[in-house]
Parts: sequence; structure tokens; C-alpha cells
Amino acid sequence: MARLIINGRSLEVNVSPSTPLLWAIREQVGLTGTKYGCGIAQCGSCTVHIDGAAVRSCMVPVSAAVGKQVTTIEGLASGGVLHKVQKAWLDHEVPQCGYCQAGMIMAVAALLRAKPKPTDADIDAGITNICRCGTFQQVREAIHAAAKA
Ligand code: FES
Ligand code: FES
Repeated sequence: MARLIINGRSLEVNVSPSTPLLWAIREQVGLTGTKYGCGIAQCGSCTVHIDGAAVRSCMVPVSAAVGKQVTTIEGLASGGVLHKVQKAWLDHEVPQCGYCQAGMIMAVAALLRAKPKPTDADIDAGITNICRCGTFQQVREAIHAAAKA
């Protein structure tokens, strides 16, 4: 058992401390916006925030999140208002199949928190999420739009 704070709610999850955070989020808490892709911290589809920093939840044990603020895609909007990254994603019609996009958006939100006006080089270095639909150009445009918002 472990107590986690996810999207501002304190929740008990019935898993071992070494269970990947991704499975606690999806299977115990039922927040399925965070996706499983590779399971080895390569694709980024499982990206969530811990205390505002992007992490790949398939490789983070639940024990590492105890006592910290976990935010998933379901908690990114605030008070019914979309996060500026979500807004830019809609404006630029970024998603295709959508599978990678929750992780992509979470990674970008963390990047913009750390670097409010990222250069293309910052984006290349900071956003290593994989999109099998090849939305990378739309992602880049939407990041620059969100940075101006
Ligand atoms: S599922 Fe976590 S990085 Fe791919
Ligand atoms: S939108 Fe399909 S994998 Fe990225």
C-alpha cells in the first residue's frame, strides 16, 4: 500500500513500492490518459509530472512518488481552463492517432515551465518523445505558439 497525491487528490493504492507509477495511475486510480508504449523509458507516452518535472512513469517506482505532487494529463487543465499547451495543441491540430499525445503534452508543459521561450535546439534536447504518426513538425509549431501565449 502507498498513499499518493495525484492531481491534488490523496489516494491509497494497493501496489508494492517497486510497482511502476504508470500502473498505479492507470489500474489503481483509473486515470487512463497516461499511456503505455515501450515500458523502458524510451518513448515518453507515459510522461507525467512529479513536483512539476516530467518523468517517464513506466520506469519510476511508486515509492519515488510518495509525498510528492503527481500530475497527469487529466490534471493539467485548471479550473476548467485548458493549459496553454493543450490550447496550442487544439489550435494547431497536432494529434493524429493521439496515442503519444498525452505524454507529449506533459513533456512540453514541463519544458515550458523550465524554459518559457525554448529555441528549436531546446525543443530537440528537451522533447525526446516518440510519435509514430510523425507529428513532430506540428509539435514544434505548437510549442512556439504556446510559448507566445
Ligand atoms: S512507456 Fe514509458 S517511456 Fe515508453
Ligand atoms: S499522434 Fe499517433 S503516435 Fe503520435
